Amino acid sequence: MSRALQENPKPQRLMELLDEATKESAAVKSLHELRELKSRFLGKKGELSRLLASLKDLQPEAKKDFGAKLNETRRALENLFQVAESRLESEALEKQLRESDLDASAPGVFFPPAQPHPIREVMEEAISILERAGLQAIYGPEVEFEDYCFDRLNFQKDHAARDMQATFFVKSAGDRSLILRTHTSPVQVRALLKLAKAEKRLPIRIQAPGRVYRVDDDATHAPMFHQIEGLVVDTQSGMPELRATLDYFFRKFFGEKTKIRFRPSYFPFTEPSAEVDASCVFCQGLGCKVCKQSGWLELAGAGLVHPNVFQACGWNPEEVQGWAFGMGIERLAMLKLKIPDLRSFFENRLSFLRGRVR
Ligand code: DAH
Repeated sequence: MSRALQENPKPQRLMELLDEATKESAAVKSLHELRELKSRFLGKKGELSRLLASLKDLQPEAKKDFGAKLNETRRALENLFQVAESRLESEALEKQLRESDLDASAPGVFFPPAQPHPIREVMEEAISILERAGLQAIYGPEVEFEDYCFDRLNFQKDHAARDMQATFFVKSAGDRSLILRTHTSPVQVRALLKLAKAEKRLPIRIQAPGRVYRVDDDATHAPMFHQIEGLVVDTQSGMPELRATLDYFFRKFFGEKTKIRFRPSYFPFTEPSAEVDASCVFCQGLGCKVCKQSGWLELAGAGLVHPNVFQACGWNPEEVQGWAFGMGIERLAMLKLKIPDLRSFFENRLSFLRGRVR
């Protein structure tokens, strides 16, 4: 740059500077080159600084005018170098991507959001229907006293009913042996024992969902599965309310057209006892493979609480009446979600878990 220009700065020179910088910044090939360019135009020893220093020699009017133009030019230059820097960065990234194995155009991997397990879903639905029927959900331990699981439920010591529920023993110690509970019925015992001493005792209206364990493992039995238990006790409460409650439950669970029927059965803790069937959800009772042409599916056990159970749990059977039921969640889930093999629930195959849950 000429000395003459420094002494008598011309706006024209600023245009030229900008022009030069535009050309050069478009041609820089590296951040290093760009840094040099920047310092040449904007640095302390750069031409712009020199022009700035020459301001002091100008007349006030010219000083103001040229000063403003200088500032404008500096902003334009800064902008220019910013653009060049972005260009270099994206060129570097592109080069890096080109040279690596990474295929930036490959479709992404989809990670679906977490979902509840189908058993959990079905259980929550069952709980919510029973809540609407007025049964409050309570939970008992999975490791249970043997006498809560059997003796207080009126299982005689050597009765075959005990063998129907092949038991995992945790710790043997006479009557206080610890086992993995084979059904959710001991939660009835716990509720009755606890409320026997309570001040405001009646009515008892509970449901007890949870895991249960039996020494069993084939296509239709798993060593761990889920049940939901119901228990209602009041001064007067019997078969009609039991039937109405289960009728309501199955209609809400499988659809309004569902019908139920009771067949006489035996459980030690109820008298009378019943097996509860619901009309087949596949053929609406007409008869199909699933219901073995009977039109009915066996879905629950139920009955009126046996006087011996009341007695064993601190209640006077002359003063109260009660009813109870129990059912398996896996069976409900298989029918509801149309899953043919029980084992699918426990294999944790992601394709199954994802596909099944809405
Ligand atoms: N606990 C029984 C079982 O696991 C099911 C059952 C039957 C529960 C009748 C009940 C009931 O409460 O009244 O096989």
